[in-house]
Amino acid sequence: MTQGRLQGRRVAIGVCGGIAAYKAIECIRLLTEAGAEVRVMMTPEATRFVTPLTLEALSYNPVAADWLAPQGGGESHIKLAEWANVIAIVPATANTMAKLALGFADEIVSGTVLASRAPLVIAPAMNDVMLTQQPTQDHLNALRARRAVIVEPASGRLASGKSGVGRLASAERIVAVIGAVLTGRRTLDGLRVVVSAGGTREAVDPVRYVGNFSSGKMGRALAEVAAARGADVTLVTTVPSGAEGMTEVAVGSATEMLKALEQATAHADVLVMAAAVADYVPEQVAASKLRRTDRPMDLRLRPNVDILKTLGPRAGLYRVGFAAETEDLRAQAQQKLSAKQLDMIVANQVGVDGQGLASDFNAVTIVTPSGIVADVPRLPKLEVADRIWDAIDAGRNRGG
Ligand code: CTP
Repeated sequence: MTQGRLQGRRVAIGVCGGIAAYKAIECIRLLTEAGAEVRVMMTPEATRFVTPLTLEALSYNPVAADWLAPQGGGESHIKLAEWANVIAIVPATANTMAKLALGFADEIVSGTVLASRAPLVIAPAMNDVMLTQQPTQDHLNALRARRAVIVEPASGRLASGKSGVGRLASAERIVAVIGAVLTGRRTLDGLRVVVSAGGTREAVDPVRYVGNFSSGKMGRALAEVAAARGADVTLVTTVPSGAEGMTEVAVGSATEMLKALEQATAHADVLVMAAAVADYVPEQVAASKLRRTDRPMDLRLRPNVDILKTLGPRAGLYRVGFAAETEDLRAQAQQKLSAKQLDMIVANQVGVDGQGLASDFNAVTIVTPSGIVADVPRLPKLEVADRIWDAIDAGRNRGG
């Protein structure tokens, strides 16, 4: 999320009483950095975990913790409810979710939610058994059915010391979802998206490979933005990092990537092929480590499998390719678009310092069969990904 993205948007954060309450601090920081106005409300239990003073200092606003306090005029929940563009419960405990599902209003957080028509984002965090018990699942489903957006908890070490599902989603993920809701971009709900990322590695011998400089950052950004917009995302990558909120499939060579993509795209709606596939692979892979000699070494390469071509077009699958070019950006992009029968191609200039491969920034031109649909200037890759998804969304809705 870049500075200013959420300028002037009003976010009410409800903090509940759980160990993860301290993690709300990071969400508030990211939201204010992005320009959002943040007001915090806390359940009485939450104030035992984090002090209102801390959250007041970080949100630059008074914290509503006691809704019966005299200065609240007994109406602080109504004021907050009307003020908020979105309400996010971070973390949401099993108890508060039960209250929200049933319409209780016995403290400021549940009272404000009941009094508001603002969209609701819920980021649960709790013990894995509490999460999977039927009452909690029933309440979660009831909230989902009322169009609350649930930021699914992650797996990992829990407060109990055991591992399981129930950890609060990362602050970045929660803020990305809040951002998507606030900007009306929660538009990929239920869409099955597959993204490929990173450079393929083609073995020379058991310890060496032929590869490229791709870092996998653009593909990861595309996967993260799609997930924040509600898509069900599979990221097939050569640089896995255990990302939350999506299925990650680790691969090495182009052949492995093709196999993983064949499986992942069988029921997918969109494929974004951001991976840099090695065009050539060693003709022979040595079975044991090649020894160094004093003579020059010849490495004979043969053309690699073309993944996009092999996967081919399929009815119902919107296919997006990437074209990394050092010259003739647009002409090359147009040529690849038609050669690979793509619905869209994202062309980026490589060989320019500070953008493209391995950088955190990129600048791209987005081309469809009807011509150039967007010229995106140099921006952080997450923002470029946002623009690309805007274009994909528009392209799919136009039907091409
Ligand atoms: N691609 C692929 N399989 C390959 C090579 C590329 O699926 N063996 C995909 C890339 O992931 C990208 C698109 O095709 O989405 C274009 O990649 P690029 O390397 O720019 O194009 P090439 O067709 O390889 O052409 P060239 O390298 O000659 O520019």
